[in-house]
Amino acid sequence: MNLLIINGPNLNLLGLREPAIYGTQDYPSLVRFIEDVCREECVQCRVFQSNHEGAIVDEIQTAYGVFDGIVINPAAYTHTSIAILDALKAVALPAVEVHLSAVSKREPFRQISYAGMACIRTFQGLGFEGYRAAIRYLKAYLTK
Ligand code: DQA
Repeated sequence: MNLLIINGPNLNLLGLREPAIYGTQDYPSLVRFIEDVCREECVQCRVFQSNHEGAIVDEIQTAYGVFDGIVINPAAYTHTSIAILDALKAVALPAVEVHLSAVSKREPFRQISYAGMACIRTFQGLGFEGYRAAIRYLKAYLTK
């Protein structure tokens, strides 16, 4: 099983960025966390981060035929990007949405998730553990 993990804009600044909301651990720590989880779950993964909407669309498109599923934290593009929604729908791979923070309890402009409309499940407000939950959920979904 081969999973693609996508992280959107500003997640590369974890640790520095609003630590009261996103925590004090940096982005390399998140990548290590994800890779450790995948190793424990015996799944292969590629972890990709970009600050650019088109690069994320390109990455989703190239996932077709290569990956079995996608875990995506589109960050701010969650709330704006119909292009990412359309790309997820186009490749039609099972996708799980993750947010470090509890977006449902935050500002009104964060209450819409376009990417989430193409996802089978969302985990939010669990910090790094949300990625573990998403990877396990996707693995169970793909093996059933
Ligand atoms: C986020 C939540 C988004 O609203 C925000 O724009 C982010 C991070 C999260 O992981 O909590 O950049 O996706």
